[in-house]
Amino acid sequence: MTATKGLEGIVAASSSISSIIDGVLTYRGINIDDLAENATFEEVIYLLWYGKLPNRTELAQLRSKLDEYAAIPGEVIEQIRTFPKNANSMAALRTAVSSLALYDESANDMTPEANLEKAIKLQAKLPTIVAAFSRIRNGLEPVAPKSGVSIAYNFLYMLDGKEPADVAVKALDQALVLHADHELNASTFAARVTVGTLSDIYSGVTSAIGALKGPLHGGANEAVMVMLEQIGSLDKVESWIADALANKQKIMGFGHRVYKNGDPRAKHLQKMSRELGKLKGNMELYEMSVKIEELVTGQKGLKPNVDFYSASVYTTLGIPRDLFTPIFAISRVSGWTAHILEQYQDNRLIRPRADYVGPANAKFVPIDER
Ligand code: ACO
Repeated sequence: MTATKGLEGIVAASSSISSIIDGVLTYRGINIDDLAENATFEEVIYLLWYGKLPNRTELAQLRSKLDEYAAIPGEVIEQIRTFPKNANSMAALRTAVSSLALYDESANDMTPEANLEKAIKLQAKLPTIVAAFSRIRNGLEPVAPKSGVSIAYNFLYMLDGKEPADVAVKALDQALVLHADHELNASTFAARVTVGTLSDIYSGVTSAIGALKGPLHGGANEAVMVMLEQIGSLDKVESWIADALANKQKIMGFGHRVYKNGDPRAKHLQKMSRELGKLKGNMELYEMSVKIEELVTGQKGLKPNVDFYSASVYTTLGIPRDLFTPIFAISRVSGWTAHILEQYQDNRLIRPRADYVGPANAKFVPIDER
């Protein structure tokens, strides 16, 4: 037995949810470029869960369920109030999502209908949790979710307590579409491994949030913003990147395990970053990002991934940088839950082997002789 480090190139599941073939990403066979330009996030959620785009009635039914479930239990709000004000936002989200299970009587009901209903609940409640955490830590009261609006609108509304601008809602909605699913990425795999033991959907999503948090995965979008802040201005980009590359430092937001010729999602976020920068009359973050791309691609051949331009997009929308990865989770929970439902449909325990490289024939030494 020899191990494949990082499971690179290993096909570990069959799935009909999303595909990456020859650098092209599809959700249920539909090119991400088409979806990014034309679909709303709610349509994409439906597509991921039900395998087809919704008609108007189906979409209205889904939206009404999302409205119905958007509020979070009072106990979870009280628990969020006890979190340290400087708690890591992904740790806070992971804890609150885990707690949701305690207040859902159907948490351990494993029927397909109950699991689908819980997927809707999780999708509806994640934005509410993130917004409530953000307000409570700033000494503000949480804002109750509004009915009849999109998830993107509601999240921005619950975050700031006022009606968001159309352009911000549109940009966030498109970002949510772009982040919704991505084949067997690390957090989705974590979710599938967890529910592969026939554990519940809340456990699966809690595992996934833990996996997304790391800077090699979803945490990279926040790390990109940290880098942009450290660089500080356009004129400092060149020397900063030269030093970082000379020190063999990883440049956050670049590289990908699967895409070697570029991440098809990055161009949409780049365009959004440029347009939002123009609209706000401040192009510095966009120009710094373009310069970084020029240098890193030119010198290392590495292309930006989905996280790179999302940092400047979210910052231009006025979102604090430690909410970038929770926003990724607000989107990806649609994909996680689609994969969890798929895993339950045809489950087999996921239990690979390890290539043992430790000592052989070691003897037990009694404690007094050590
Ligand atoms: N900056 C500098 N060098 C890099 C980068 C980078 N961002 N990414 C890869 N490399 C280099 C590595 O140092 C390594 O070089 P070496 O062979 O000389 O040691 C080589 O390219 C291969 O890199 P690995 O880390 O082995 O590639 P892997 O497929 O394991 O990792 C990953 C992919 C984690 C995305 C990596 O490119 C990375 O760390 N990028 C930065 C973090 C990031 O942006 N993560 C988000 C990914 S997208 C997402 O999850 C949503």
